[in-house]
Amino acid sequence: MKVDVLLGLQWGDEGKGKIVDVLSPHYDMICRFQGGPNAGHTIECKGQKFILHTIPSGILNPNTLNIIGNGVIIDPFILQKEINMLAEKAGIDVVANLLISRRSHLILPTHRLMDAVQEASKGAGKIGSTLKGIGPAYTDRTARHGIRSGDVFTDNFKAKYEELRNRHLQIINTYNVDIKNITIDGFDFEAYEQQWFSSLEIFRKLKQIDAEFFIQEQLKANKRILAEGAQGTLLDVDFGAYPFVTSSNTIAAGVCTGLGIPPSSVGEVYGIAKAYCTRVGNGPFPTELLDETGDKLRKNGHEFGSTTGRPRRCGWLDLPALRYAIMLNGVTRLIITKTDVLNDFETIQVCHAYEWGSEIVNYLPYDYNNVKPLYRPHPGWNCSLDEIRHVDNFPVALSDYIRMIENETGVPVDMVSTGPDRNQIINLRA
Ligand code: IMP
Repeated sequence: MKVDVLLGLQWGDEGKGKIVDVLSPHYDMICRFQGGPNAGHTIECKGQKFILHTIPSGILNPNTLNIIGNGVIIDPFILQKEINMLAEKAGIDVVANLLISRRSHLILPTHRLMDAVQEASKGAGKIGSTLKGIGPAYTDRTARHGIRSGDVFTDNFKAKYEELRNRHLQIINTYNVDIKNITIDGFDFEAYEQQWFSSLEIFRKLKQIDAEFFIQEQLKANKRILAEGAQGTLLDVDFGAYPFVTSSNTIAAGVCTGLGIPPSSVGEVYGIAKAYCTRVGNGPFPTELLDETGDKLRKNGHEFGSTTGRPRRCGWLDLPALRYAIMLNGVTRLIITKTDVLNDFETIQVCHAYEWGSEIVNYLPYDYNNVKPLYRPHPGWNCSLDEIRHVDNFPVALSDYIRMIENETGVPVDMVSTGPDRNQIINLRA
């Protein structure tokens, strides 16, 4: 058996949570391999809406085991809130179905402080971070003084914590800010730190494992495993528009380092893209629409960040960027989401190439801050997709749109999402 991968091909928020939820009955285990609570995976299930930040999206399915891999960074305070939300809203016992790699790293309260201070100091060059402490926590991991989940059971945990906390506070002091003026999730630093320590109580109840061995054993036992990506390919720390990226490898290669599996154990790669594009945070976005068409996409698609509530930047589908993402990930199956957002557009524009200085290029260059999108118009379908449950009932213009994406990318589209609900996902291969 191999580990299949599901990830976003744009700037995140492609609707991954819903697709994992739909696919999870076909898998025995769902694993997160990178990122942290900067993610916000929204799932609508039985009329209820769930937003998951750290826990894999398989948690809503009682028969699916969920693993947080070593490549993930965990904030126990945020995790605790998620655990309580799932228990209160849906009676889900997370402890029974969640396993955590001992090697995953922790986000400390001072990582959050550092994120806030460092981001504020960037002025106009702000990345637009979710301020969840992602950059500072991954920095400590790479600099080899981070604290791992397994450390919470050791005798010297408190000493390690204090050493790192004090190191952080020294750095924060150099920014000449008074931490009394900064709040974290509505708490001042000391109150937040207390809450964080209290959340370790639940955290210690969660089962920790050596996930790399566990996953190998599960593969040998013919278990079906899906790796669930967070953020999106164009936010990858190596291949996104650096520095306007997150701090992890969001691409398929991250599955190997984030779960401890060899490349030969990677199976299908499901790539998810919206029928248009969105991005939160700053950085290049060639097809961004700063006019009423962008506003309409935002309104139709309810494009507001699920982690931060920020309005998302919206624009037309960007094929050079999509081809780049497909290439980096080795995507074998494409899934197109949120087609219903385009229901009332007479004409849909699609970027097929860029003007880059004096050249026309159909790929994404290093300097993609300075490209101008070239568009081709596509007829809209101008009707509701609400009642559609089979590809044979697709309006012609939607079928043409999907075919155009397949032709332009060379990858078959497997599924099309036509609305927020679980049953509004049409399997084109059925
Ligand atoms: P950070 O990872 O919170 O530091 O944010 C870095 C950049 O990635 C910012 O532009 C964020 O808005 C963006 N980002 C981080 N996580 C997500 C996500 O899950 N969806 C969409 N954008 C994200």
